[in-house]
Amino acid sequence: MKIILGVAGWTFRLIVLAILLFLMTNCTMLGLNYASLEVGNKPDARPEIDAASLAEWEAGREGLVQTFEALVYGPWPEGQDVQLVGRRMVDDTLAGGRGTLEELKIRVGSGKGARSFHVALALPKSDRPVPLIISQTFASNCGAFPGAPLTAPDGGDCADHEGVPGFIEAIFGEFIALVPIEQYFAHGYGYATWQAGEFIPDRQEEARAIMEAMAGEGVTAPTGTLAGWAFGFSAIIDVLEDDPAIDSARVAVLGHSRHAKSAMVAAVHDRRIAAVVSHQSGFGGAASSRSQTGETVERMVDGADLLGFLQMPGYPHWFAPAFADYAGRTEDLPVDQHQFIALVAPTPMLLGNGRRDVWSDPNSTYRMAEAADRVYELYGTDGLDQSGMQDFDPAARLSYFLRPGGHSITQRDIDAFLAFLDAALPRGNEMPDRANEDSLSP
Ligand code: GCU
Repeated sequence: MKIILGVAGWTFRLIVLAILLFLMTNCTMLGLNYASLEVGNKPDARPEIDAASLAEWEAGREGLVQTFEALVYGPWPEGQDVQLVGRRMVDDTLAGGRGTLEELKIRVGSGKGARSFHVALALPKSDRPVPLIISQTFASNCGAFPGAPLTAPDGGDCADHEGVPGFIEAIFGEFIALVPIEQYFAHGYGYATWQAGEFIPDRQEEARAIMEAMAGEGVTAPTGTLAGWAFGFSAIIDVLEDDPAIDSARVAVLGHSRHAKSAMVAAVHDRRIAAVVSHQSGFGGAASSRSQTGETVERMVDGADLLGFLQMPGYPHWFAPAFADYAGRTEDLPVDQHQFIALVAPTPMLLGNGRRDVWSDPNSTYRMAEAADRVYELYGTDGLDQSGMQDFDPAARLSYFLRPGGHSITQRDIDAFLAFLDAALPRGNEMPDRANEDSLSP
């Protein structure tokens, strides 16, 4: 009997080990693999961006946006009412007195489809308007500013909520939830953060029902959460753009992973956004949808059944329902993500990557950026200005950053974000006039 129990125990341990190894070689965060640095040996991005002039690109831009809406992300939620329904001071001596922490409550939509969410807004004390970084995250505002008496996503008090468990930080990095506000203040930035799931929950059935209820007379409802979450960035800009403390010409959006995808969607649709930090966006972000490395359409929409009994979730609700039709036939998809990156142009964008984060596919992300570069150049900028995946140039309009390590937000990432943002949002009067980008064209 003892022997049988012993064998069963060891079999169980071996199975757990096998699952762990499987996850570590295939999964986002614990990756043991390295992304290849070789980019010249892959098929060209398809379809090729062949606009011969800026005018030609711009003439086709709206049509391309509509194709992405129809097939990939669903519509931009046009016409939703946005209201600031609450604003209160939480701490007027944040970071040793260097700034303030406020809480905003924003309502999107009206009637029974209305949704609200809270934003934690940290502003450095300054005698002039400050540039603002708006960050969307899966972590609650309680985790972003631990100890501050903010509202938890369930409407309760942060004081009654456990912080982010240590093992999460160990896996996903020190700054996966925590905002290093002293560092942002030291560079003169204000920082607004909110949890996307408070607006539209990241749960398939609930999300679909909530998005459907957002439809109304003359009001478009999102059909994918990425577009819905992206709209949250715009709602925050709506309520803050006339705030005299904020420099509304210098508003950046920042997101990690699924929120890096939605930060890109926001920048495509909301041209007030002056810079984008899209960190480890992967599939449905800056990585190629056709690449077989990392995630694929079928894995995204169906999830995966590991070893026959461990169900990994899929995320079909992030996308337009039509996207699921491309599972197993990505070659038929008429667009790929180099075109999506190009739709962000000429807005400066940082594409952050981790060498072990193969799931997010740093290699195809670089190839997509190379193919999108053409459009940044049509706008008269240098676009992607590096010789390879490791040649980071934070001052480039389209900047690709690769560091060692996995799917996480670490100090190295914060340093890269700040170097990029300082170059993308220069202080003084040297900010390009975005309403008149033609002046930049050759
Ligand atoms: C999953 C998903 C990715 C996503 C990531 C995240 O791994 O497959 O596409 O980027 O979650 O948001 O952390």
